[in-house]
Amino acid sequence: MTSKLESLNQWVAEVAHLTRPAAIHWCDGSDAEHAALIARMEADGTLVRLNEATHPGSWLHRSHPDDVARVEHLTFVCTTEREDAGPNNHWMAPDAAHAKMDALFDGCMQGRTLYVIPYCMGPIDSPLSRCGVEITDSPYVVANMRIMTRMGAPALARIEREGTFVKGLHSTGELDPERRFIMHFPEELTIKSYGSGYGGNALLGKKCHALRIASWQARQEGWLAEHMLILGIETPQGQTHYIAAAFPSACGKTNLAMLIPPEGYRRAGWKVWTVGDDICWMRPGADGRLYAINPEAGFFGVAPGTSAKSNPNALASVQANTIFTNVGVTADNQPWWEGIDNGLAPALDWRGEPFDPATRPAAHPNARFTVSARQCPSYSPMAEDPQGVPISAIVFGGRRASLVPLVFQARDWTHGVLVGAAMGSETTAAATGAVGVMRRDPMAMKPFCGYNFADYFAHWLSFDRPGARLPAVFHVNWFRKGDDGKFLWPGFGDNLRVLEWIIGRVQGTAGAVETPIGHLPAEADLNLEGVALSDEARAKLFGLDHAGWQAEFASIGRDLEDYGPRLPEALRQEQQRIARALAA
Ligand code: GTP
Ligand code: MN
Ligand code: MN
Repeated sequence: MTSKLESLNQWVAEVAHLTRPAAIHWCDGSDAEHAALIARMEADGTLVRLNEATHPGSWLHRSHPDDVARVEHLTFVCTTEREDAGPNNHWMAPDAAHAKMDALFDGCMQGRTLYVIPYCMGPIDSPLSRCGVEITDSPYVVANMRIMTRMGAPALARIEREGTFVKGLHSTGELDPERRFIMHFPEELTIKSYGSGYGGNALLGKKCHALRIASWQARQEGWLAEHMLILGIETPQGQTHYIAAAFPSACGKTNLAMLIPPEGYRRAGWKVWTVGDDICWMRPGADGRLYAINPEAGFFGVAPGTSAKSNPNALASVQANTIFTNVGVTADNQPWWEGIDNGLAPALDWRGEPFDPATRPAAHPNARFTVSARQCPSYSPMAEDPQGVPISAIVFGGRRASLVPLVFQARDWTHGVLVGAAMGSETTAAATGAVGVMRRDPMAMKPFCGYNFADYFAHWLSFDRPGARLPAVFHVNWFRKGDDGKFLWPGFGDNLRVLEWIIGRVQGTAGAVETPIGHLPAEADLNLEGVALSDEARAKLFGLDHAGWQAEFASIGRDLEDYGPRLPEALRQEQQRIARALAA
């Protein structure tokens, strides 16, 4: 009994009765606690110390080889009514799901320590923040939660004050892929996760709480929980504009959030500030604008491809006090991954075996780093502001090798919601399954929306009401390819050129051409100074493939019908209006 909150004590006692741990530890988040946990994990091999001289305080964790990514086919939303989970989620009746999970949890912590982790998603003193408690038998989870959330005594104090919290129960179990489930009970604000130690499945504050459960809470309480980065762009005039952007997993959120301006922009005085790289909670303020917080306190970023060239801020962030999961190591124990481009070579691969390029890459393609946001050189001082930051623009985007131009702007909020609902992207290594297949991923929330997408679209539409001063909505595509299969747009730092146009549109200073799919910049509307683009690139990045878009809108119309009668009529009409305009 360590809390003043009886309901919390009672839940911990019930879980302990079921799982039968050898010991119970309430996490206070202190340095001493952290040091003891790390020492224990070093002793049993869960963590391997990295080179202290080059990477002080940093550790390598090698996960079970079958446990390296989120498992969407084993992730369930368990609502009383099946329709409330929607066609976008796997569903199980709550009673059946509890019975299934409790059978797995029965006695599963014997010989292990049960950790109670009170945590707060968002600044501890923010009205936009929400709290949870994760019970886990994994010290690796505790160490990661300490970086990714505000964890420990201050969170517990807030939970005791508020009396409500999201309950997350996790056990790594036997890591048997046949006995692995991630279950969400949004009506009970409860998560049960068994059989995986991987981040997205095991760090319950992140995808499970901050997206699936929070999206449900947000709908009831009138806010939005989104799979979005948040960044601030400071202009040479000293104004800072905040943008939230939703891209599917491994499509460049962390990269964009930490963007380094191209040389010319830097000299002119442009700066980019990172507020968040993965999750955004936003809610209308008294002035009608949407205010956003990053509910997380750290970054759980994809390591492969991160280099001094592609993402110098991320690379600088992970020089110390970082947990690396499933990367390779050099002969002198420095972390190494494909694309790090640092002149070193891997000695061991992510499974700890001698590196052999014929066998497997040195790092798993979904290898990750966990690091405190405070270590990021571009971390925005406003990220800790309890009021959040006002959002000027919302940007949707995905990996589209063909058809979709570099950037376009939605005409209004309803059109913007359709642009989000119709988002498509080619799949990546962030989830298990085939890579490179185009699928619809509305608002990049397909794996994360905790309720029926039709209701979710209706919730989005509901923000357009008297007094609202909503952000402008855009769509970007950094991944358009030429006939030779190469990317046509340089991307990364040069994406600031697109963001500048977006800010210009919001301020009414940048030009655009009106088309049926929205406002597109003419080439001259973007600052392309110093960017070498072929004629093919210019045509494909800024042009509109009429026939291609007609086919796309027919496909969007068919996909929207999957949501059945719950689909908001306004969205269907918007799709039909644009389809007609394309046919004219
Ligand atoms: P999650 O953290 O899984 O939600 O994904 P994320 O959206 O943060 O993805 P991340 O930033 O880690 O994306 C990494 C991948 O996107 C790498 O393959 C990068 O090379 C690629 N990428 C990021 N920005 C760009 C860009 O501007 N152009 C191109 N071509 N690739 C990019
Ligand atoms: Mn993500
Ligand atoms: Mn990321």
